[in-house]
Amino acid sequence: MTIRKVAVMGNPVLRKKAAPVTPEMIGTPKLTALIEDMIETQKEYGGIGLAAPQVHESLALIVVGMDSAGDDEMEMDDNHIPRTVLLNPKITDFSTQMETDWEGCLSVPELSGQVKRSVAVTIQAQDSTGKDVQIKAEGWAARVFQHEIDHLYGILYIDRMNDMKSFSFNRELSRRQLEDRETE
Ligand code: NI
Repeated sequence: MTIRKVAVMGNPVLRKKAAPVTPEMIGTPKLTALIEDMIETQKEYGGIGLAAPQVHESLALIVVGMDSAGDDEMEMDDNHIPRTVLLNPKITDFSTQMETDWEGCLSVPELSGQVKRSVAVTIQAQDSTGKDVQIKAEGWAARVFQHEIDHLYGILYIDRMNDMKSFSFNRELSRRQLEDRETE
């Protein structure tokens, strides 16, 4: 496994529509290595998700979540997203109910901004073996999937911000959070 270099904003690969993963590619050493490398890279950089274009591969493939502590039954909720690999993910249903919350991106390092997203989505995709899967995600997980799938269309979260005033350096945000805590 190799930790790959993450493309940052300004790199054209982040602005291209990713090509679909074809049935012929599934299970090949090349695709298997890419998936393993993406998981390794996501862990190394400390992200909650990663899309293939972020590692310079313009393919419709995302990895999200984290390894659960030996509990495969663990549900997707606001604190935990189990490790999920999706090929060709498409959002087939968005809730009309929206929520605004903070997002960051490994391709836009050291910054965060507030983005309005649907609170629930339904996703159609294939797993790493090519099997069709349907995922229903809510809350934080729904936000993570929407963010990662946007990458496959060349969209960054900053494109979805409707008020750039929240766009902030993480070091300023954590300083403010500390100050807020001290004055409580
Ligand atoms: Ni991102």
